[in-house]
Amino acid sequence: MLGNFSYMNATKLYFGEDSLQYLKDELPKYGPAVQLIYGGGSIKKNGIYDAVVEILKACGKTVVEDGGVMPNPTVEKLREGVKIARDNHTDLLLAVGGGSCCDYAKAVSVAVHCDEDPWEKYFIRFEEPACEIVPVGCILTMAGTGSEMNGGSVITNHEAKLKIGHVFGENVMPKFSILNPKFTYSLPQKQMIAGIYDIFSHICEQYFSGEDDNTSDYLAEGLMKSVIHSSLIALKNPEDYEARSNIMWTATWALNTLIAKGKSTDWMVHMLGQAVGAYTDATHGMTLSAVSLPYYRHIMPCGLAKFKRFAKEVWGVETEGRSDMEIAESGLSALEAWMRQLGLAMKISELGAAEDMIEGMADATFILKGGYKVLDRSEVVQILRECL
Ligand code: NZQ
Ligand code: ZN
Repeated sequence: MLGNFSYMNATKLYFGEDSLQYLKDELPKYGPAVQLIYGGGSIKKNGIYDAVVEILKACGKTVVEDGGVMPNPTVEKLREGVKIARDNHTDLLLAVGGGSCCDYAKAVSVAVHCDEDPWEKYFIRFEEPACEIVPVGCILTMAGTGSEMNGGSVITNHEAKLKIGHVFGENVMPKFSILNPKFTYSLPQKQMIAGIYDIFSHICEQYFSGEDDNTSDYLAEGLMKSVIHSSLIALKNPEDYEARSNIMWTATWALNTLIAKGKSTDWMVHMLGQAVGAYTDATHGMTLSAVSLPYYRHIMPCGLAKFKRFAKEVWGVETEGRSDMEIAESGLSALEAWMRQLGLAMKISELGAAEDMIEGMADATFILKGGYKVLDRSEVVQILRECL
């Protein structure tokens, strides 16, 4: 295993169908004003809002409402959340929702006591916070992003046509996260499968890099197999607790930094997907599924040994008497078959992208250098065209 690293995870997790009761153990650590962050209303329909507010009230907290966080939270909503926090002297930002609410809470947390414009400072200049950070807690209702146990925060600026993620340090990570797999039962199937593919993509994007024998890659293979297995059960029966709990737990481990240890990591599927998201505002996981196969087929010859290993170890592809290229291609075909079985978007045109957006999307794609091939701009354009 190559590379030098440190490892620590600052988030305390409570997992399982009884996990919400531990909220009352966490609340006394913070002051009275709790900014309750949630999305477009799903938590009011499924009863989670009432359950959380009851605990907050029983613990003597003042509930500061901050609903309406949209999927792919915007810079305008971020500014609104900062104002709410300042006006109410928020002591704890409690996100109840999916990755969008958790990401938004983290962005608000570093902006409340910051005099500069948060978009410019954190998402354009990628600076670290130098101000007091308001603590964040999460109650997760959708499995996918891993935001519940990492420092990531992705904000969309529609005017600039940019969707940018900043991975903050451990001081911005949620202080605690509550993961009840039953809270994900009410997710529409489209969101469930988008989350499943987000998990898978996070694992792949850390797996497809490096040449060394690395424990992180073995962990990644195990996580991938678990997601594939559980996804097919959840597809048939969304209320299969075992499958939904495995999906939720894999999502956390897919992006809580562990499997990136000792690795350079690729992340180009996310860079392409975020550019598509900036132009279409499409569901995050679907932007990833729609760009993955053209990208992986493009880079496969440069990382052939790993793509062969992926085929054999993750998909059980037959290797006897076949060339490395044939085996690797069969692995990607198996991935494609699984994606189609789940019902994921396979083309960016399904998400509203069109030919006249390709050049702009290419401009919005950050080119990272950690994978098996460093793309140039013309290759980004070519891949995006193949995704149409
Ligand atoms: O807004 P509500 O009404 O709550 O509905 C949401 C939303 O429409 C719904 N939903 C969530 N839980 C539900 C539910 N509906 C019914 N029952 C439930 N239990 O699902 C929709 C999508 O929610 P959202 O939070 O947007 O999804 P997700 O968790 O995929 O988060 C997406 C955001 O996270 C960013 C993405 O870019 C995107 O902006 N990411 C964050 C990362 C990180 N922090 O590390 C990494 C990821 O790669 C990703 O980029
Ligand atoms: Zn993602």
